[in-house]
Amino acid sequence: MKLVLIGMMGAGKSTVGRLVAGALHRPFIDTDMIVEVRAGKLIREIFAEGGEGEFRLRETEAIREAVAFAGSVIATGGGAVLSPVNRELLRESAFVVWLDAEPEELYRRAMRQGAAARPLLNGPDPLAVLRQRRAERAEAYQQTAHIRINAGGRSPEETAAEVTRLLLAREGNA
Ligand code: S3P
Repeated sequence: MKLVLIGMMGAGKSTVGRLVAGALHRPFIDTDMIVEVRAGKLIREIFAEGGEGEFRLRETEAIREAVAFAGSVIATGGGAVLSPVNRELLRESAFVVWLDAEPEELYRRAMRQGAAARPLLNGPDPLAVLRQRRAERAEAYQQTAHIRINAGGRSPEETAAEVTRLLLAREGNA
């Protein structure tokens, strides 16, 4: 069964995804990385040249590509759930886990990794952006996910262990 991680920037999707994939010896796929490889450009360059709209089109193509890999662990970009097409693609093809955390924690983590790679956080008040987008997207995350996990206040290793356990339980019942 495929695993898809959704959630805001800074929630730890890529870190946790890599850990789960490593533990289960499964392929790890990051849709942001597919977007960059296919475009031959960095995400910030795509935003700068074609705007968020161009990025979202490329993101849907990347999701289509990612969900075609059997048994993969897939980390999505934070806005992957905005399009109804993406929501359906993800929910129908995988066990979808929403990694959630409070905006303050998302902010700390995203800033530690550097805001430059994330055009949406490049403005004067990234914490306010995280708060607002999380509130706007909460319903879409909820609709897409099979389960929500609180990734706040614990390490990526602890979160990965819980996600692994849930995935294996789900596969056992499938
Ligand atoms: C975005 C999140 C980013 C990336 C792009 C847009 C968003 O991915 O897809 O910068 O809209 O939340 P991460 O969630 O991996 O940072």
